[in-house]
Amino acid sequence: METTAQDIDTLFLEERRFEPSGDFAARANAQPEIYDRDFEEFWESEGRERVAWFEPFTKLYEWDPPYAKWYLGGKLNVAWNCLDKHVEAGRGSTVAYYWEGEPEDERREVTYADLLTEVTKLANGLKALGVGKGTPVGIYMGMVPETPVAMLACARLGAPHTVVFGGFSADSLAGRLQDMECEVLITQDEAWRRGTTVPLKKTADEAVAESPSVRHVIVLRRTGNVVPMEDGRDQWWHDVATDESECPAEPMDPEDLLYLLYTSGTTAKPKGIAHTTAGYLVGVAATHHYIFDLKRDEDVYWCAADVGWVTGHSYIVYGPLCNGATSVLYEGTPDYPDRDRWWAIAERYGVTILYTAPTAIRSHMKWGPEHAEKHDLSKLRLLGSVGEPINPEAWIWYHDHIGGSRCPIVDTWWQTETGMIMITPLPGITTTKPGSATKPFPGVDAAVFNDAGEEVGPGGGGYLVLRRPWPAMLRGLYKEHDRYVETYWSKYPNVYFAGDGARVDEDGDFWLLGRVDDVMNVAGHRISTIEVESALVDHQEVAEAAVAARNDATTGQAIVAFVTLKGGAEGSVTKLEELRNHVARKIGPIAKPANIVFTPELPKTRSGKIMRRLLRDVAENRPLGDTTTLADPTVVDEIRSRGAEEQSKED
Ligand code: WTA
Repeated sequence: METTAQDIDTLFLEERRFEPSGDFAARANAQPEIYDRDFEEFWESEGRERVAWFEPFTKLYEWDPPYAKWYLGGKLNVAWNCLDKHVEAGRGSTVAYYWEGEPEDERREVTYADLLTEVTKLANGLKALGVGKGTPVGIYMGMVPETPVAMLACARLGAPHTVVFGGFSADSLAGRLQDMECEVLITQDEAWRRGTTVPLKKTADEAVAESPSVRHVIVLRRTGNVVPMEDGRDQWWHDVATDESECPAEPMDPEDLLYLLYTSGTTAKPKGIAHTTAGYLVGVAATHHYIFDLKRDEDVYWCAADVGWVTGHSYIVYGPLCNGATSVLYEGTPDYPDRDRWWAIAERYGVTILYTAPTAIRSHMKWGPEHAEKHDLSKLRLLGSVGEPINPEAWIWYHDHIGGSRCPIVDTWWQTETGMIMITPLPGITTTKPGSATKPFPGVDAAVFNDAGEEVGPGGGGYLVLRRPWPAMLRGLYKEHDRYVETYWSKYPNVYFAGDGARVDEDGDFWLLGRVDDVMNVAGHRISTIEVESALVDHQEVAEAAVAARNDATTGQAIVAFVTLKGGAEGSVTKLEELRNHVARKIGPIAKPANIVFTPELPKTRSGKIMRRLLRDVAENRPLGDTTTLADPTVVDEIRSRGAEEQSKED
């Protein structure tokens, strides 16, 4: 396991307890009996309650490991549930998104009726370009209301989408477009980020040049700067999305593909996580309802993730819209133009529920509480955390400085693969402990196993597993059955292996301890060591590279690369920058190594395998583990001494 015994003990020394307040408990969507509910009864009634069906389902689920099907026999449409359902019920004038652009004077209120109109127009336009049920569509956009519009227009037609985070490079985008064989790409001219523009269309052009399946590119005008448009291939969104006549929502089967979302695994090739229609929608809507305690006519909910990640899919778009929530959507960075930007937004819209990541909380901590203090955050009543283990110090800071010591915090554990939150407190019920995600959500069967596949009792550590299927679970890896079985289902028979270490304490509360594989978690982003290594060796002067993570006070983990240059060349500051930029070009800026140590050799076993474990020790500045299997034990000392002089860089 990556985590040291000391980390675990530190967590277990965390003895602060936060009881739910009586007021919150009295009105909470989840009442204590929820934990007594039977698995099947719970998911059946959630299936009826959260989702509207064109035809009701006839069978709750089928489990043929490692594949599950849910809500069989029903017919439904996700976009209909997110839009028409509310408009038909007379809630068309309710705000779906309060959107704020990064330039402060740009604000829009998008109601459910507006959203339906925009989705209808784009869906009609897509249809005219030949998009229909089953046509794969790529989406490469920033945080603008048109991104959910694009996703919902696809869902309306039954066209599966893949959203690619706007920070990814042309290579990363092309890899995804090629793998899914997308026929259409929806993008925008540019996006705003920290006061400068991000050239999305330019990057998209490079990617599309490598992606022969893409026939059409639809371009939203966002910043208005001139971008080249290719005749016959590229069209402006405002020219495509003009037809307001009704576009009926396609009745879909429960197991029709809703989207693919690519995520890092332990090889260089990202995995296409497949999510389907009914189970996914029930899963995200039910968890959103109970965990965020949504009162849709009172709350203003803000999930500050990017739509390009699973958190954005499930808890900015599909869950909240299915539940009829009013959300905030913000385009830019938290420190633009000033470090109080988030708190200005929270005050302006009267945000009541805020969901963000520990890495963001730690940035705010670093900037100081005075920025939040300038604003009235008294409407906040619930806080959430996601993406990585939250250290107790950040938890307490969030609780005191943002939540005014009155808001419950839900620390939610889940993954792109799970689609929905799996381990979490329920506000109003759970006594929380800083650093613990506490209990499995009702209808979720999580446990901690040892290597032998036995359940570990209270106090014990091991691997987090899920023993029963759940509605929003992935339906496999796109076109990679063997990899699906190998990654999640081969460690324990018929039990899902999450790739995370965990412990359960005396109260049955779960403490997540980070990844146990070669996946790093940098600022809440999943990046595999091997992906970064391949990007580095792709550089013509690099002979070999190995990548490890070290702890970082802000980003959780930071990437350290050990690089051997060809022909025994020595590294330099220029080379270091060049390599960092090369990785940014190959994958995206999020994957840039924080440190690069140039070394004439990497530590290898006698059979030539790189000993990453030792590099992790070096990266972390820990005493070295067993070095007896090294071919040349002096290599590590050399790296150590170089590591001491290494250049450290921060973005
Ligand atoms: C980590 C993000 C501890 C974990 C929704 C998981 C967490 C990976 C938590 C999934 C949490 C996410 N506590 N660790 N509350 N939430 N993780 O696919 O290692 O981007 O396996 O999904 O993030 O990352 P992904």
